[in-house]
Amino acid sequence: MLTVEENQRFTQVGPGTPMGELWRRYWHPIAAASQLKDISTKKVRLLGEDLILYKDRSGTLGLIEPHCAHRRMNLIYGIPEEHGLRCPYHGWMYDETGQCIEQPYEETEDPDARFKDKIKMQAYPVQEQAGLIFAYLGPAPVPLLPAWDVMVEEDVIRDIGYAELSCNYLQVMENSLDPIHVEWLHQYWAGYVIEQLGRPELNRERAIHEKIQFDRTEFGIVKRRVIKGGNEDDDDWKIGHPIVFPNMLRQGSRGSGGAFQIRVPIDDVTTGHWWLRWYPKKDGDVDQTPEAVPFYKVPVPEIDEDGRVPWDVLDNNSGQDIVAWITQGAIADREHESLGRSDKGVILYRQLLEEGMATVADGGDPINVFRDPAANVYHHLPTENNVRAFTKGPQRQRGGAATKYSPILIEREGVVKY
Ligand code: FES
Ligand SMILES: [Fe+2]
Repeated sequence: MLTVEENQRFTQVGPGTPMGELWRRYWHPIAAASQLKDISTKKVRLLGEDLILYKDRSGTLGLIEPHCAHRRMNLIYGIPEEHGLRCPYHGWMYDETGQCIEQPYEETEDPDARFKDKIKMQAYPVQEQAGLIFAYLGPAPVPLLPAWDVMVEEDVIRDIGYAELSCNYLQVMENSLDPIHVEWLHQYWAGYVIEQLGRPELNRERAIHEKIQFDRTEFGIVKRRVIKGGNEDDDDWKIGHPIVFPNMLRQGSRGSGGAFQIRVPIDDVTTGHWWLRWYPKKDGDVDQTPEAVPFYKVPVPEIDEDGRVPWDVLDNNSGQDIVAWITQGAIADREHESLGRSDKGVILYRQLLEEGMATVADGGDPINVFRDPAANVYHHLPTENNVRAFTKGPQRQRGGAATKYSPILIEREGVVKY
């Protein structure tokens, strides 16, 4: 359990909070590049801050505060110019550093007017990678955008899914350190869901976990398990799969493709969930430009007045996970939780967060902040290929949102059946 104060420390991400300062040391996805294909501005909220992402006509991306420094019109209506974003109200223009670079009337009345030099709005750096646009809200110097494994590979094609969840990030991340939920939520309960949906062909036997272990690695935590009928020679145990601190889960295999699940605190009670899925290139696949990486929204179950969601959004792992996360409440009451042996991964993750907050408070860089380009070329993340917990157990393999809704998978395999 945590005290009320400890829980607040772990869950508050706004500017100036210890956890908010830790999260501000990392780059975070804020949009898919394809979301700026047909429009030039997009509302963004990240770590409790409201911002406007824009792309000007030369293709430069900017992320600036939403209200014009003149008389505060919202720049969601901003006009992209060759270089910069112009406020529609009186024509002031800003560049990607937030600097005001034009004030048309001031300059008409006095061609030497330098008022604009004094006007600088809050702006943050952005960078594109793997079809995602990332932002950094922390202090200078700006660290490098990490080169995580398949994020920077070129022999794959990708698609990007997104859901906005009405709960704090910690509930979502703790789930990644919790292998036991697989056999209950994604197998036993999933079997019940399938029964409710009138698809009784699935049984509800579990792939029983006999042993779980979590080890610290250079990049975070590796999660290992032995499933009944298997042993320590299985990939699930020998290799396991990585949780990249502070907010990524990597799944899948090099051969058949997989996904990064990236969890981003939008504010204390909202989490952005990204599925960046990749597939090995096949004959005929062409290189994707960032804007050509397909984007889809994952439907978020709506809880009705009886406290339930429709069964049909629960027929996949992600739907089941999302309901587990959001029904804990906007911020889980950890004063009344009861952690057991199954939760040692949750406890280890909290330890890493604690250490990260302490490092930042001491003025240091927490893990996974990279500054040396030579040491940020490609970070390999060992991941099991055969996942006994899903594929060798009694249940058929079931996918999550990234497979149920993935446009590339649907195109390659036709309608994905659930
Ligand atoms: S409010 Fe933006 S230019 Fe006046
Ligand atoms: Fe899950």
